[in-house]
Amino acid sequence: MKKLLFKFTTYIGLFVILPILKLLGKKFYEKNVVPKLINYLCGTKPNQYQRKKIVPLAVGDVVEIGIGPGLNLQYYNSEKVNKVIGIDPSNELNEIAQKKADKVNLNIEFNLSSAEQINLMDSSFDSVVCTFSLCSIPNPELALSEIYRILKPGGKYYFCEHGISPDFLTRMLQYITSGFYPSLSGGCHANRDIINLITSSGLVIEENSTMYLPGSVKFLGYNYWGIASR
Ligand SMILES: C[S@@+](CC[C@H](N)C(=O)[O-])C[C@H]1O[C@@H](n2cnc3c(N)ncnc32)[C@H](O)[C@@H]1O
Repeated sequence: MKKLLFKFTTYIGLFVILPILKLLGKKFYEKNVVPKLINYLCGTKPNQYQRKKIVPLAVGDVVEIGIGPGLNLQYYNSEKVNKVIGIDPSNELNEIAQKKADKVNLNIEFNLSSAEQINLMDSSFDSVVCTFSLCSIPNPELALSEIYRILKPGGKYYFCEHGISPDFLTRMLQYITSGFYPSLSGGCHANRDIINLITSSGLVIEENSTMYLPGSVKFLGYNYWGIASR
């Protein structure tokens, strides 16, 4: 009953409240509503649980793509990580992440740029971490080719994403919502084919697991997580 109520409230929030807030003005919405929405939706317990499966595996010199509000920072293994460079074009999310960065014992550098054009050297990173961001990056193919470029040969790409569902009805909903949900959510597309995107870049999947996150709304809840290598 509690779960049903949560899902119902989430759907009302996403499809009724957000469009109303957006009517207050696009700029206001993108500056004030979207960053808080991302920090809230990405920070739910099931999402945090997913992060713990992936982020502690990163070692050495690490780049985090779409670091957003910094929800992964607490999960890095500070004994195995040399530095983390967080890439994200959002000023507002960067401010939220900076506050989290102050509370952890990590060497963190924020790089306000886009994953499609990473200003870092070829073959220079041991690990790239990307969680819940391939949905929102406007050109994920280009971003993944950049990720491939900056990874050392044998370097690892640690991913956790929501994406295309194997179930027909959920898939339909994902395609229907892709017409308007991105404009409400900071660009989030529910229907991206995560594994196909990763393998098309030349990265080789070593591990991949999938499931619907418990308590999530289905069209946003089908998760893929694992490791790919260059
Ligand atoms: C749904 S949020 C996820 C944030 C964070 N990765 C997490 O796990 O909570 C998507 C993130 O992708 C970022 N993003 C959007 N376009 C991007 C781009 N071109 N390059 C890098 N990051 C981008 C957004 O600013 C946002 O921080």
